[in-house]
Amino acid sequence: MEKIAIYPGSFDPVTNGHLDIIERGLKIFDRIIVTILENPAKQILFSVEERKELLEQSLGDFTNTEIASYDGLLVDYARKRGAHAILRGMRAVSDFEYEFQMALMNRRLNREIQTVFLMTGLRWIFTSSSIIKEAAKFGGNIESMVPPPVQKKLEEYFKQGAEK
Ligand code: PNS
Repeated sequence: MEKIAIYPGSFDPVTNGHLDIIERGLKIFDRIIVTILENPAKQILFSVEERKELLEQSLGDFTNTEIASYDGLLVDYARKRGAHAILRGMRAVSDFEYEFQMALMNRRLNREIQTVFLMTGLRWIFTSSSIIKEAAKFGGNIESMVPPPVQKKLEEYFKQGAEK
């Protein structure tokens, strides 16, 4: 049986930390469906279409991945796609409580789907989409933290804002 995992997130935008999790996740799973889902707690910068496009441009080298989006419960989408696992990256201890809460809620909603955590690579432990967006907004160099298409998109976005 094919081992399929859903790798869910806001991906606003995708970072090198996400790519690291996908790369290592592919050593465990046959296929990873990278899925953009809504996080009601977050203010989003890019549209679903823009985020999908950035993921497509950034995942070029990975085979056995698919990019998707879903408007609803993560476990419902996992069931719909025949996935038995949810893949999440864990950075510092500060991620733990939120991830623990989400994993337990998802298990309560569907006991057939297991959440699997991978520790983020040390290089990416302090990076997040939010902090990268903040750095880019104020002209910081984010080159080493995001794939090139994302760097370009963020720089263009904030340059346009500055010109308005
Ligand atoms: O990248 P993020 O923002 O940390 O990802 C969080 C995300 C999108 C995975 C989470 O908010 C989510 O699963 N949203 C879909 C709705 C859902 O199923 N929530 C979890 C159970 S209440």
